[in-house]
Amino acid sequence: MATETPWEVANPDLSPEALILGIETSCDETAVAVVRGGTDVLSSVVSSQVDLHAQYGGVVPEIASRAHNELIIPVTARAMVEAGVDGGRIDAVAATVGPGLIGALLVGVSAAKALALTWDVPFVAVNHLEAHLYAAFLEDPVLTFPLVVLLVSGGHTLLVCMEDHGRYRLLGQTVDDAAGEAFDKVARFLGLGYPGGPAIDHEAMSGDPEAIRFPRAMMDGGLDFSFSGLKTAVVNHVRANPDVSTVDVAASFQAAVVDVLVTKARQAAREAGATALAIGGGVAANSLLREEFLGACATDGLHGFLPSRSMCTDNAAMIAAAGWHRLRLDGPTPLSQGADPNLRLATY
Ligand code: KG4
Ligand code: ZN
Repeated sequence: MATETPWEVANPDLSPEALILGIETSCDETAVAVVRGGTDVLSSVVSSQVDLHAQYGGVVPEIASRAHNELIIPVTARAMVEAGVDGGRIDAVAATVGPGLIGALLVGVSAAKALALTWDVPFVAVNHLEAHLYAAFLEDPVLTFPLVVLLVSGGHTLLVCMEDHGRYRLLGQTVDDAAGEAFDKVARFLGLGYPGGPAIDHEAMSGDPEAIRFPRAMMDGGLDFSFSGLKTAVVNHVRANPDVSTVDVAASFQAAVVDVLVTKARQAAREAGATALAIGGGVAANSLLREEFLGACATDGLHGFLPSRSMCTDNAAMIAAAGWHRLRLDGPTPLSQGADPNLRLATY
């Protein structure tokens, strides 16, 4: 009878000293990190392709895949050097298997499997959305469950209640555009370029958030979101008022998005009986959202998890952190596991 090694099954006693190499290539960032025990970031290298895609006004999948291919080896080498470790010290290799662009995902997944085979360590498949949830704890590992997380990225807007590690209850989600998508589309319409979120954040700093009262959709007590009507309202307002100040439009649009996000996140925490609230995903880098989030947590007596800006946007430290938890909960992922561009967060 074959004996099971600890690596073939879930490993509840996985060492907090275990070093995980994380790889992220789901969109336009090639990122590699080394994280100890799911919390201690030894290195986190992010090579952004923003300049390559900016001229096209958005991410071009074929260009992204080719760039990942060129960057994956040098970025991995740098992450290892910065962490001060060689292959012999790595205990497992984790990679984003989805959701994301299929060609881009495949580069990271193939590299992770090759490294895992070379070093004879487990490969761990990571869901990019779950990784965004774990980013919040990289800088504040004292977790208290149940915890409500507002996940706001370019492709997703979710409110989930984290009941425990790996146990997520879906409280609300967008019925149309994601929050980040709304930032990107409005920025493009206003001629502010790509990526839109940071551009609007910057413009809004010199604008009046009360100049235009844009609609706040679905504020009827539910926890779902809708941002496509807001985008249309911005377009209609600018067309009807061609001389309107762009900074005022940016500030008023941003105020509307943040108002909805923070109101619903607070409500979700109340309804779930959570004592802590976290935000994650690229939009969580937004200056106004960060300010309002901290204010709301202070007013409501909630422990607020606010990741640093670099942990909100795509990075591999969050992949390695989520990978450590997945390895503990599920054990290694078979090498037959492929990339899944439409992977969902498992919720109940
Ligand atoms: O999480 P992320 O890096 O990638 C995805 O998984 O989608 O999120 C990217 C999104 C983009 O829509 C980008 O415009 C938005 O996050 N974003 C921001 C800011 N920085 C990035 N949105 C608002 N304000 C920002 N400062
Ligand atoms: Zn992301």
